Amino acid sequence: MFYLTTAIDYTNGSPHIGHAYEKVLADVIARYRRLRGDEVYFLTGVDQHGQKVQQTAEKEGVHPATYVKRTTKKFSNLWEKLGVRYDGWAETTDDRHKACVGAILSSLKESGQLYKKSKKDLYSVRQEQFLTDRDRNEQGEFGPEWGEVIEIEEENWYFRLSDHADWLVSFIERTEDFVLPAFRRNEVLNALQRSPGLDLCISRPKSRLRWGIEFPFDPEYVTYVWFDALINYISFAGYQSGSGDLPDFGKLWSENDRRPVHIIGKDILVPAHGIYWLIMLHAMGFPDDQIPQLLVHGFWNGLRGEKMSKSLGNIVDPSELADKFGVDAVRYYLVRDITTGKDSDFDLDRLLMLFNTELANALGNLCNRALNMSQNFTGGVITTTGELTADDLALRESLATSLADYRAAMDEYDISRGLEAINRHVVHCNGYAERMKPWEMNKEWKTSNDPALKARIATVLYHLAESVAHAAVLLSPVLPEASAKLAAQLSLPGLEDIKLPALAWGLIPDGHAIGKPKPVFPRIAPPEQE
Ligand code: MSP
Repeated sequence: MFYLTTAIDYTNGSPHIGHAYEKVLADVIARYRRLRGDEVYFLTGVDQHGQKVQQTAEKEGVHPATYVKRTTKKFSNLWEKLGVRYDGWAETTDDRHKACVGAILSSLKESGQLYKKSKKDLYSVRQEQFLTDRDRNEQGEFGPEWGEVIEIEEENWYFRLSDHADWLVSFIERTEDFVLPAFRRNEVLNALQRSPGLDLCISRPKSRLRWGIEFPFDPEYVTYVWFDALINYISFAGYQSGSGDLPDFGKLWSENDRRPVHIIGKDILVPAHGIYWLIMLHAMGFPDDQIPQLLVHGFWNGLRGEKMSKSLGNIVDPSELADKFGVDAVRYYLVRDITTGKDSDFDLDRLLMLFNTELANALGNLCNRALNMSQNFTGGVITTTGELTADDLALRESLATSLADYRAAMDEYDISRGLEAINRHVVHCNGYAERMKPWEMNKEWKTSNDPALKARIATVLYHLAESVAHAAVLLSPVLPEASAKLAAQLSLPGLEDIKLPALAWGLIPDGHAIGKPKPVFPRIAPPEQE
């Protein structure tokens, strides 16, 4: 079983392009693994507790529960619109999740991992956390990201994080691939070196924050939002649930033959996932081979690399974008114009250019040509038995190379490189069509009636159509609907059930009646300049 999760999104606002990227990336990976033949469980959801939610709800004059219900809808509606198909949906206000967090707190307390103490410390109101010296910038100050910093004296519950710091260092040193891409490993190790011996404050007094999960053994406190949120990866996977409507935890996680994969952005690797979460699992008794792998993606920035922010007014609304340019263009762009792990600048011109060049012109044109000419020159019937020339063999070779490159790239979660591989073959096919010129052969045949010429036309069109069939299969994780449309036009509904290990030349049987073309990727006209 391939158990895949994304971060759960804060519900104190609306989804932006960064949220959409992560969910589409996860959806593409989940669909790709299914295409490989794996059994997949994909969990995503929303993070509904915390100070920010409480504050925004107060500002809007509604109860936090009403507020998160409303904002949660914005996220789930967007995933539906973008074709993000998940198996499990995590909402942290769900009673089953609350029960799981409570049970974990109690058991950590019983095993001596929690203690209560009073502490006077600096606190960031915006980030909802106590600050330490490692949070100061090079000038020794707390940067603007922390917002207002105040001093608070408070009694709270602490988790003995520091007891496990040595284990974490040794785990990271032993486990090369615990984080992908590997260059992120040092970020975790450096953070551990900078601040060894610090425990984590995991409670908030109700006098300050009510909107959270109550401590089962100390009802004047609620749980720190990160401690609560991280647990979603196991609570909704059925950890100690006894609830029939949650998955079987053993199947998903503990008796699984591969470690779960958490997809997260680079901002939440340190300390939340790389330190807190791994130590939480270890403290709960998870063995090393059950510690999940972290796939860390980069950020979408505004043009010229500036951070997307409300104040700069450069936040991109993915829902609007899909309404304007279509879901395919948005999904394609989000995984095509970024290398997994790196950052990219959001650029509408590139979104249109990539759609128009690689989909409308290259693949759309190939499909249109192959089907149109088959209808016009061979009565829509594919013949697979013609003699092969060096050009045909080169085309098959190009497909085999593209397929191998695609698999290697997709196995490494490098979707952009996977798409490049498909595109290389599509470009090869269009070049082949230009060189073979079946339309001229057909003109010649009309005057000569030479059966060898007719056979040659059929062979060329077969090679084009077979390539479209392969492209439809390979593209299906990224553009499932477009891929289904291609399969329908080829009259090959069975393409949707093909698994990668069985994908080989010969998808179209001899004598197959092919369908009629209908544009799948209509060119997008650039919007009028305002
Ligand atoms: N609620 C926490 C995660 C808890 S996981 C147990 C959170 N939420 S978030 O809404 O701020 O971010 C959700 C995800 O979106 C994170 O993985 C984050 O890295 C990602 N992104 C937020 N802005 C982004 C971009 N501009 N670009 C790409 N991804 C971005 O953190």
